[in-house]
Amino acid sequence: MTDVGRHPKITLHTLSEVVDVKGYVGNFHVNILKRARYVDEKECTACGDCVKVCPVVRPDEFDLGLSSRRAIFSPFPQAVPSAYVINVNECLGHNPVVCAKCVEACDKDCIDFHMSDKEIVEDVGSIVVATGLDVYDPTELDEYAYARFENVLTSLEFERLINAGGPTKGKVLRPTDLKRPRSVGFVQCVGSRSAKKGGSYCSNVCCMNTIKSTLMLKEHYPDIDIKVFYIDIRAFGKGFEDLYMRSRRSGVHYLRGLPGTVEEEPDRGLKVSIENTATGKLETHHLDMLVLALGIKPAASTQRLQEMLGLQLTPDGFFLEAHPKLLPVDAATRGVFYAGCAEGPKDIKESVTQASAAAARAIRLMHKGEITTEPITSMVVEEHCKSCGKCAEVCPYNAIKVDVKRKTPAVVNTAACAGCGTCAAECPFGAIIMNHFTDEQILNQVHALLEEKPKEKILAFACNWCSYAGADYAGVSRLQYPPNVRMIRTMCSGRVDEKFIWDGFLKGAPVILVSGCHIGDCHYIDANHWTEKRIKKIHKKMSKLGIRPERLQLEWISAAEGVRFADVMQQMEVLREGVTSEEIAETIEILKKD
Ligand code: FES
Repeated sequence: MTDVGRHPKITLHTLSEVVDVKGYVGNFHVNILKRARYVDEKECTACGDCVKVCPVVRPDEFDLGLSSRRAIFSPFPQAVPSAYVINVNECLGHNPVVCAKCVEACDKDCIDFHMSDKEIVEDVGSIVVATGLDVYDPTELDEYAYARFENVLTSLEFERLINAGGPTKGKVLRPTDLKRPRSVGFVQCVGSRSAKKGGSYCSNVCCMNTIKSTLMLKEHYPDIDIKVFYIDIRAFGKGFEDLYMRSRRSGVHYLRGLPGTVEEEPDRGLKVSIENTATGKLETHHLDMLVLALGIKPAASTQRLQEMLGLQLTPDGFFLEAHPKLLPVDAATRGVFYAGCAEGPKDIKESVTQASAAAARAIRLMHKGEITTEPITSMVVEEHCKSCGKCAEVCPYNAIKVDVKRKTPAVVNTAACAGCGTCAAECPFGAIIMNHFTDEQILNQVHALLEEKPKEKILAFACNWCSYAGADYAGVSRLQYPPNVRMIRTMCSGRVDEKFIWDGFLKGAPVILVSGCHIGDCHYIDANHWTEKRIKKIHKKMSKLGIRPERLQLEWISAAEGVRFADVMQQMEVLREGVTSEEIAETIEILKKD
């Protein structure tokens, strides 16, 4: 952090919040709200004279309330810049009659109550999202009694207690009597792996953090009795199993089962009841202190940042990477990368690895001074554009601007356009051309594929990234599926225009399949939501016209689902066999009249 603060090419904005992001890869405009520090950070040497005279005492957030700080303070000892900050809401006021003792105490005149919050705009080429994490709040888990008994601590509070720089200088003391505990219990998976409370995912770091804590405790106090209550211990990773074994060898008891109740005893000790699932017995353990291994949850700012940058989230609320294997640090929005727990729970080593990768990806993109884009982008035919704004509404990348009031034609920012083709499919006036996947090109494919014996064909539209790859997978796995499937590849299922479907039926297709990535997995953020809406709309129209909607199917097939692809094709074949020549002829007649 100190190196970052000193680096001539890095500008560090502390006490700052990103309030808006505009632009696209290579040209992002980031609006930042920089809060006033009320202390000149260049002059302040953190001598501490101001702190000594400040009369306001508040709980120290860094020590999780286990110690106190003043209204003028340094957030933590290694904070960068090494300057104090005033919490103006806690300060008694800068009117000298009220207080201003810090102003008098500061020889360097660093304190300035006239400072105000500033709005800053930074122009940057790429963005690394490293917004970190929040931890689970255990107060809702009444069975662990965190809110009721002082000797139940969280893993973070314990971390501060055992830290040599912490409020007790590394001595582990029981909060109720400040005596050394003779026995300590650790409860795993608090807010993790639970469908009801907290997250259903594994928080990745808690097992190893507890194992480390048990070893530190044993180093400090070899005679201490330690019990770990767990579901299972997840010690994967280099050297982790060894550490776990070391903890067991040092005499730590690992008990499989989580506490059902925690009660306080007259001496403020804790009575912990568990069902030991290894022995099948109910057990009661008497402990001086209990530590809850808190799970990780997405940072509170995640949602706002996701909206600002047009990013995707996983169902757990973490940021979703563009591809879990091939682009693990890239966001779907070009020029945006992830580092650390913003993308999912991870430990320090993984976070550093991911941060290095994100930095390298950002540098690789920027160092040339120019961006190379794929030629698959959309283009507006100005004469046809009626400035309705539909294209801008559906674009997942905000790459299209339309001035609806002035009625000026839509403008596509080709650097931001990723080429899903949803705009072209949704434009009611045919005013958008999707380069390399034009209406003409796709309709020609439809016509060619249905030219001969259309009744025997299954027409299938497949998105490049999932369904087409799923078909590939079925092929290389030598899976059997009907040989009469005729595939048309589009970059995204969002490109499948209504007219392709009508044209297919008009050319005699008995059944048509539209397939794409599963919802939430679309490679163009949420473009397949529009596919879903469009297919529903077509189904309604089919019913209205008297055409069986079952003849048009929508299926989500991922790249790994070769078997599913083959199954879906078998089902399509059954559907196809159920469509008679008379029905096809009738459909053609209906569509010709419509
Ligand atoms: Fe597959 Fe969008 S990329 S549905």
